[in-house]
Amino acid sequence: MKRHDLLNQIKEAQKEKGFVSEAVIQDMAKAIGISISDVYGVTTFYSFLSTQPQGRHTVRICKSVPCLLQNGETVSAAIEKDLGIAPGETTSDGRFTFELTNCIGACDQAPAMLVDDAIYGNLTPERIKTILQSHD
Ligand code: FES
Repeated sequence: MKRHDLLNQIKEAQKEKGFVSEAVIQDMAKAIGISISDVYGVTTFYSFLSTQPQGRHTVRICKSVPCLLQNGETVSAAIEKDLGIAPGETTSDGRFTFELTNCIGACDQAPAMLVDDAIYGNLTPERIKTILQSHD
């Protein structure tokens, strides 16, 4: 394994297991001959990579200014209330992981979020409930 291929290897590990475990990070560091903290640093730099097991669905609410100016905080609070977890946490049934993210390119529909790969915009607390209920 070469250092220039590190990000692709990390993405592949994430795709296989849904997260990048400590053991995988150690193996990659050893294979490339770099420190564990270097691999960990790359893994934690990108919000779409995780070092923790994820729920079946990942909800990522945009925390960038255009969404915040369109009641993004109210929508984020509605997600917290409906799921009963804070950003960075996973529901006890393993159904949802809730995260904050930077702009997802849907500013014209602010406030916006991703559930897995699908974008949802023009969010309201009422729409949040419906969207979350549609994901098993
Ligand atoms: S600022 Fe929220 S989607 Fe762009």
